[in-house]
Amino acid sequence: MASVSTVILGTGHYAPARILTNADLAKMVETSDEWILSRSGIRERHIAAPGEGTSDMAVAAARAALVNAKLAPDDIDLLIVATVTPDLTLPAVSCTIQHKLGLRTNAACFDLNAACSGFVYALDTACAMLASGRYRRAIVIGAEKLSAITDYTDRTTCVLFGDGAGAVVLGLSHEPGVGLLGTRLGAYGGSVDLLCVPRGGSSHPATAASIAAGDHFLKMKGKEVFKIAVRAMEEAARDILEQHHLRADQIGLVIPHQANLRIIESISQYLGVPMDRFYVNLDRYGNTSSASIPIALDEVRRAGRIKRGDYTLLVAFGAGLTYGSALIRW
Ligand code: ACO
Repeated sequence: MASVSTVILGTGHYAPARILTNADLAKMVETSDEWILSRSGIRERHIAAPGEGTSDMAVAAARAALVNAKLAPDDIDLLIVATVTPDLTLPAVSCTIQHKLGLRTNAACFDLNAACSGFVYALDTACAMLASGRYRRAIVIGAEKLSAITDYTDRTTCVLFGDGAGAVVLGLSHEPGVGLLGTRLGAYGGSVDLLCVPRGGSSHPATAASIAAGDHFLKMKGKEVFKIAVRAMEEAARDILEQHHLRADQIGLVIPHQANLRIIESISQYLGVPMDRFYVNLDRYGNTSSASIPIALDEVRRAGRIKRGDYTLLVAFGAGLTYGSALIRW
């Protein structure tokens, strides 16, 4: 069989209309624009409207990606949704999205939870499923309503997160040397407690007392996460460059998970790739977990920052603590 590769046929994103600025947060908790900006690089984030769910944002992003790919819902036979904030705990939000998007009922769909690395994990999964020959075209979505699990009385976390969705449409190509060239995934599974929602899962179902204590909200040991994030992202980026015999100066653009500007600057220094070749939009979105990379990918494509033949490196980390990188050639 002739070799086939997985290529991105279209991209789209959606961000809710409401914007929560650092000044707004300073009225809610003891913080300041200066603190948030200097420690994280974030100025503002989008927040979903009441009643606006992860599925609504995901559908808007996926519709934009289908238009961009010039394809119809009927052309899709696989849907993977990376999220930590599905509409319901059960069933998977991908089923709701499959229906709202009008995909065929014989389009396979499932959710994938690898937190902020979720989009890179989902990309790899879709790529393998397409390469199997059993699927022809896939939609991969990263969508999050993090405002639903954020404690807006906890200044150490509430300043960081935002809502949104990004999507890509994937297909197969016989052109050699293009598409998703490879991925490098992993997890520091011993560090689950550094970033988690402590109650509401099957090991500790929510109780009136746990809800009163706010244990259904995301908790994070930020400093420890920061250190592991830098190490994991550097390792994932370096490994994939080595695997593909590429030098840092051959990478046209790095799209990192948008969590903290200082994390991105450390990776830039370590890899020897200057900051002007890193795409940064966290000032406008905050950390949107699995949505951050596909939102950024759509923005750079629409801004014409990617040319044919360019290499783009995606690199992420998140709760778990998961991490991953992906190398794309356009
Ligand atoms: N405003 C003002 N002061 C604050 C705030 C705030 N919003 N938050 C914390 N502080 C205070 C702390 O209480 C502390 O005060 P103390 O020294 O009196 O105790 C001081 O500021 C310093 O706090 P640190 O936590 O040491 O600040 P740091 O420089 O580490 O920055 C931050 C904190 C931004 C959270 C950083 O650690 C970080 O970005 N970590 C990585 C988090 C991350 O990226 N997570 C992503 C994964 S998300 C996912 O998968 C869903």
